[in-house]
Amino acid sequence: MSDETMERARTHFETLVNEQLERVERMKQAEDWIDYSTLKPIIVGVCWGDGIGPIISQETQRILEFLLADELKSGKVEFRTIEGLTIENRAKHKKAIPDDVLEELKACHVILKAPTTTPEKGDQWPNIESANVAMRRYLDLFANVRPVKVPQEGIDWIFFRENTEGAYVLGSKGIQVTEDLAFDFTVTTKQGAERLIRLAFDHAKKNNIDYVTIVTKANVVKTTDGLFLETAARVAKDYPGIRWEGWYIDIMTAKLVDPKRRTQFRVIALQNLYGDILTDEAAEFQGGVGTAGSANIGKRYAMFEAIHGSAPRMIKEGRGKYADPCSLIRAGAMMLNHIGFTEKGKKLEMALDICGQYEKKLTITGRDTGCTGEEFGNYLMETMQDPNL
Ligand code: IPM
Ligand code: MG
Repeated sequence: MSDETMERARTHFETLVNEQLERVERMKQAEDWIDYSTLKPIIVGVCWGDGIGPIISQETQRILEFLLADELKSGKVEFRTIEGLTIENRAKHKKAIPDDVLEELKACHVILKAPTTTPEKGDQWPNIESANVAMRRYLDLFANVRPVKVPQEGIDWIFFRENTEGAYVLGSKGIQVTEDLAFDFTVTTKQGAERLIRLAFDHAKKNNIDYVTIVTKANVVKTTDGLFLETAARVAKDYPGIRWEGWYIDIMTAKLVDPKRRTQFRVIALQNLYGDILTDEAAEFQGGVGTAGSANIGKRYAMFEAIHGSAPRMIKEGRGKYADPCSLIRAGAMMLNHIGFTEKGKKLEMALDICGQYEKKLTITGRDTGCTGEEFGNYLMETMQDPNL
């Protein structure tokens, strides 16, 4: 290998190390959690996204506006549309999030985000980073909280996926050293692991759950996963009433399909890539990724999104109006809970369960054999008006 190639690799790595050390310093300056009760208005940015995004985000906004009618009137809550987070605009600026869009996002307190196209090597788009991943990083949304519930089967899980580190933080910054040799990097920091794990334990404590599962592959990925596990052991000491166990991702993935064992899991904290994969598997038990919502929580900002993609095929085939908005609506319910309207959030969650799992007067199939997203939205709103709810 030439000296020049080696020098390029060395410089590349040095830059990454410096960037990450700076990030650690920023994390050390512990910021306080934002207090929504003191804000007026709480500004909710709605990103329309790509594919079915505009359709399902407008449907979600309609339902939230229905629930927040008083708050909108009194000026406690304001909705803002953010249109620029489209693949066309992002490709034009060659940026995961164009600067002006980032400014618009930063002027909000919480964000409801529809799915956006993530370019992949070889497709028609420039190889820009995923908008989700960039937003999580720019707004420091370090915890990706994904609940999955199937009451009939005793499944009641809540995943705390680390959202700003692991295989993702340098996902676009790997290095092809020579034609034959490529590296990607994975990163764990003590501070990054600790804030996520603490949030998981705090959730367990607040909800009287006495068991937390930490998922890694620390038997093989010894350094970074090892630090995550070590951090868990240290944090757990501050929660004496809560039992915890470390599980490896392979056996954890297997045990989620074991009906006898899976109900023991309740709060699960894990690194970014494992969390990405395991939460898709978990959502499948509840009816698929279309039914799951996801909260991306940071101390200053929070973003709520569906866990599925933008379904360009549905748009191409003219089936957009049949797209299921429930995942994003569920994310909307998580947003209501997060910003302090828990009664309304719970009501919406209950309506989603009744309409989607129990009563099922209407069903969404993604095509004209089922109802449209708007019809389902009306069904949810009618259900929420039931005085017994
Ligand atoms: C998710 C998605 C994203 C991720 C993709 C779109 C980059 O799969 O939110 O789980 O991997 O985080
Ligand atoms: Mg995923």
